Amino acid sequence: MACLRSIAPDIHYVGAVDWNRRLFDALIPLPDGTSYNAYLVKGSEKTALIDTVDPSMWHLMDQLLDKSCTAGLDYVVIQHCEQDHAGSLPLVLKKFPSAKVVCNKACKDLLIAHLHIAEERFELIEDGGTLSLGNRTLLFKNTPWVHWPETFVTFLREDKILFSCDFFGSHLASSALFFEAGDQSFYEPCKRYFAEIMLPFRKIIQKNMDIVRELNPLMIAPSHGPIFKDPSMVMGAYAQWIDEDQADEVMVAYVSMHDSTRLMAEELVQKLMDRGLKVKVFDLVHADLGKVAEALVDAKVLLLGSPTVLAGAHPLAAQAAFLVNALRPKIRYAGVFGSFGWGGKMVEQIAGMLSGLKLELLSPVMVKGLPRREDYQQLDAWADQVVEKIKL
Ligand code: FEO
Repeated sequence: MACLRSIAPDIHYVGAVDWNRRLFDALIPLPDGTSYNAYLVKGSEKTALIDTVDPSMWHLMDQLLDKSCTAGLDYVVIQHCEQDHAGSLPLVLKKFPSAKVVCNKACKDLLIAHLHIAEERFELIEDGGTLSLGNRTLLFKNTPWVHWPETFVTFLREDKILFSCDFFGSHLASSALFFEAGDQSFYEPCKRYFAEIMLPFRKIIQKNMDIVRELNPLMIAPSHGPIFKDPSMVMGAYAQWIDEDQADEVMVAYVSMHDSTRLMAEELVQKLMDRGLKVKVFDLVHADLGKVAEALVDAKVLLLGSPTVLAGAHPLAAQAAFLVNALRPKIRYAGVFGSFGWGGKMVEQIAGMLSGLKLELLSPVMVKGLPRREDYQQLDAWADQVVEKIKL
């Protein structure tokens, strides 16, 4: 029989740690696993469950609910419809036939579409609405686009605990329930998570941060990764990551087939380092996509290298350009470099793939075959240009 872990009196952790998951959304690598956090909040009159777990982990949650819900369950608050939080909802509703699903209208529509939840099971809440559990009160605030349109957070007023769902989360499997105050180990997994999930929504996150600041929580309990005993740690980091002016690095990402592009990349990186610039470098054949995304948080300049393949970019370079365009980072300048044998439209193709970004394209550096002395001189001039752009 499972034992209960509590984050405060009568507030139990009923989620699950997924130590072995290695991929999310069939795209995002999870080198450190993840967790699906769910919380049971008991009031003097009613009991509410906040979020569920990925269905693959239902057997663990089932045991914890058996242990913690001996007096039944009145409400299931679903803050976000994605399967890792809402996926076990049908099983919870089957286990507790009188429990109501508490969510906003947008979330209800998605839950009906994705999970076929019956209309009569819902109890809708408005932005700023409350739900009394007796001696405890849940306050709901819509926080759209962290990271779906229906997402909201739940504030437990009396305890000043914010249940923030994906907002402030991290894909980190850990036996630790908390990031203790001052523990900086949160930074890397939270930044990676921010880069992969939140980066495109920076401007809206700014508004959502204001909502959280106004609530002034004593504790932030996200739905992935450990709980923050000191919310200022992660909120301070988010403030830095969403700041449009805080990006001063050069990202060099390249793929090479027969070494011409690799030689150019290596020469370029050396020249950039010689000029004192902060550079992050990725050979796209071996790169961890999460690390690439993380580097985008701090990148002001992107230099993307590729050989010409079938008159266009190498597919790995095209994939990188597609992801950069989709994640909408702070990048203000981009340049394409690489090699060709007999022509092609690689530069135009990559430029088109980055068209969703408001950035200035540098003149490309394209080399026929293996680079020569004059090509390296061109890269030298390019590095000078990058220095000027970084200073702007
Ligand atoms: Fe953790 Fe958007 O789901």
